Amino acid sequence: MKNKWRQDIHLEPPRGWLNDPNGLCFFNGKYHVYFQYAPDSAQGKGKKCWGHYESPDLLSWLFTGTVIYPDIPEDVGGAYSGSAVQDGELLYLFYTGNVKEDGDFDYIKSGRQANTIFVTTPDGRSMSKKTVVMRNRDYPAFCSCHVRDPKLWRQDGKWYMIQGARTLEDEGCALIFSSDDLINWSYDRRIYIPDFGYMWECPDLLNVDGREYLSLSPQGVPHGEYGFQNVYSSGYFRLTDGVPTDYREWDKGFDWYAPQTFIAPDGRLIMIGWMGIGDIPYTNPTTDLGWQHCLTVPREITADGDGSLLQNPVRELEKLREDETHPDKDAPFEILLPSDILIGVQDSFKIVLDEKLYLIYDKNVFSLKFTDDSIAFGRDVRKTIVQDLREIRMLCDKSSLEIYLNGGEQVMSTRFYPGSESISCRCEGQVNVTAYKLRPMDINFVD
Ligand code: FRU
Repeated sequence: MKNKWRQDIHLEPPRGWLNDPNGLCFFNGKYHVYFQYAPDSAQGKGKKCWGHYESPDLLSWLFTGTVIYPDIPEDVGGAYSGSAVQDGELLYLFYTGNVKEDGDFDYIKSGRQANTIFVTTPDGRSMSKKTVVMRNRDYPAFCSCHVRDPKLWRQDGKWYMIQGARTLEDEGCALIFSSDDLINWSYDRRIYIPDFGYMWECPDLLNVDGREYLSLSPQGVPHGEYGFQNVYSSGYFRLTDGVPTDYREWDKGFDWYAPQTFIAPDGRLIMIGWMGIGDIPYTNPTTDLGWQHCLTVPREITADGDGSLLQNPVRELEKLREDETHPDKDAPFEILLPSDILIGVQDSFKIVLDEKLYLIYDKNVFSLKFTDDSIAFGRDVRKTIVQDLREIRMLCDKSSLEIYLNGGEQVMSTRFYPGSESISCRCEGQVNVTAYKLRPMDINFVD
């Protein structure tokens, strides 16, 4: 379905609903991006399946359809999030089989099953029979029924798995299991700090330049003015001897949650997030057209000198750049969508898009502020503290913006719904603009 909001450089479902990226990997010469998918309901009402995209180069994509359906008693309520590992010739996809039993339950301490299940695939598309490797009784006794989102890796000849959990005391934590054969798993330890939400979703352990980090999407952390502004947070801790410290949010925009990382063949650590969140007070008008949500572009993760992480769009996207222009900053100019805009800035400034969305930097606070609901659909303002803002990169697609500050020190992502396939831009302050029109990615559907 072609529409002015259908995106050119972001992966969306052809129809229905998309949430978390799952099973990210490079396998058999291709990148694979699976995702939480409800093909029959743009509101996400159906049972969650896994949809699948593949690509040789992160630029040309093929949607091959729904590849995991909730069709056994252990996943009848949905094939929830999970991850991929390769063993020999096969790709193993691990996920959570969600089951909600009929009855009068709270579905937190009773009435819910969280089964850890895998399928294997020789080609990324055709799936084996399912194997259930863990059930609620296999998780530590301090856990409620909420245990999910297995992410696996191999280290020193052993397999490891991290899962998100909610304890019986309503505290979030991450559980680590190990295995010699991917089938028999034993619980090793948990990562936890007190008073950090009631549930940690989608945990992921990262190693960047020899330092360990825990990425997670915690629910229930109190809101703040410059952080924790969304209904649920998503960020990372530094792990020092296994102890989480110094939490930072990955993305301070309106639409970001449940990211996952994988390692590309050339060693780059790449992260993709869901450009959406559950239970939000704002909406997406594509729902009326039959689909909702997208993934962010893949982002390269590197470490800054002090160990904080930087995120930047994968370098492959630069191959989509077509013509370079240097608009006169003193006159309004048009940004054709999609575009990649680089802006050098100094001191305070304002960048005004379509006279309805303001990017403002003043007294070390960067704000993304909608002033008109006709493009915002319920989004208002998000703020972050940035010392010495020098450069901005905006990836502008047909209905989303990813805004990278100071070489990826901070990011703000948002959906927005402009009235046409270009937006006006005017700047106040000392800014210097380089604009690249982007060639659309080649996104094909075979559904
Ligand atoms: C995060 C999440 C995961 C779960 C999945 C279900 O958005 O709630 O914890 O596995 O979505 O779709």
